[in-house]
Amino acid sequence: MSKPIPMVDLPKIHAPYQSDLDKAVLSVVHSGGYIGGTVVQDFEARAASYLGAPVIGVGNGTDALQIALMALDIKAGDEVIVPAFTYAASAEVIGLLGAVAVWCDVNESTFTIDPDSVKSVLSDKTAAIIAVHLYGQCADIEALENVAPDIPVVEDTAQAFGAVFTTGKYAGRNAGTVGSFGTFSFFPTKNLGALGDGGAIASTNSSLLAKAKSIASHGQSKKYHHDQLGVNSRLDPIQAAALTIKLNYLPQALNAKIQIAGQYLSAFESLNGVVLPLTASFSNHTYHQFTLRVPNGKRDGFASFMNDRGVATMIYYPIPLHKQKAYAHFEPRTSLSVSESLSNCVISIPVHEALEPSEVLAIQTTVTTYFS
Ligand SMILES: Cc1ncc(COP(=O)(O)O)c(C=O)c1O
Repeated sequence: MSKPIPMVDLPKIHAPYQSDLDKAVLSVVHSGGYIGGTVVQDFEARAASYLGAPVIGVGNGTDALQIALMALDIKAGDEVIVPAFTYAASAEVIGLLGAVAVWCDVNESTFTIDPDSVKSVLSDKTAAIIAVHLYGQCADIEALENVAPDIPVVEDTAQAFGAVFTTGKYAGRNAGTVGSFGTFSFFPTKNLGALGDGGAIASTNSSLLAKAKSIASHGQSKKYHHDQLGVNSRLDPIQAAALTIKLNYLPQALNAKIQIAGQYLSAFESLNGVVLPLTASFSNHTYHQFTLRVPNGKRDGFASFMNDRGVATMIYYPIPLHKQKAYAHFEPRTSLSVSESLSNCVISIPVHEALEPSEVLAIQTTVTTYFS
């Protein structure tokens, strides 16, 4: 293979609209307004219109989660249910507030939160559930509401900006707009990525969103009037300017990823030794990641094979959170066997929107050669 194929290639992704990005960013640089202002408000309005729910910008996706939990009054001793199979930030914020992370398991085919597992760990201290829309498709929020009708759900939508519920009560609604809060990350490699850190919070509950907005600004409702403990978490105008440009290209970027994923799915359909990702019946899939399962201890051999032939792969995530040193004090209360087995067999392959047809073919051929 000629040139190595990385997981993502941001300069190549930006190339078709690089001059628009440059102009937008430079215009902020020359304006002298580097905090807040109309550029940020404009992005918030556009994101809200895209998602169909009011949005506030914050510093990053981790802050977004923490602020959402603070706005829900999560305090020391409260229990917050969170999947053991997700990025650490989803659970970290629980610990930071002195609350207790209560692990639940995930569905082994869709990788998202398992409502039955949630049911098994509910208690009278359960104060919230964090549902992660992992890898780009929606978690089953309706099923969560059925098992825990009175518990607020925070949708961690860091990986699924643009994913949509396709059936059920929330058909047609965007991921991140149906729970008490939806939280988003604009980490550069995400579906909608900034040129640095960025995040957002969405909610259709105006008083909750106003509270989150105040918390994100040192707990102020009015300048120098601090009503509650808050944090300093801002989406800056340079990022907002870049995100406003990139939001225009999001639908075509998602379509490109969906098309590439479709090609992978048909090319790999009849291979033995590899399990393909499943799209849940109630969601579309935006393929933030295209994640295969290679069981029976063969995953690492497959990763080396791909690497030797110039195709990058990544393992999201090699250690479930309950096995991480930082979270060892949150002891499991239910079986986390799916999370444990997924950590040993998942592997993601490149699926970004700027992959060339020849690269897609090269990836397909390399995977197919390994499993044939
Ligand atoms: C599921 C999930 N939640 C939260 C975050 C945190 O987002 P950020 O890196 O913007 O703080 C990430 C980022 O990787 C994520 O994947």
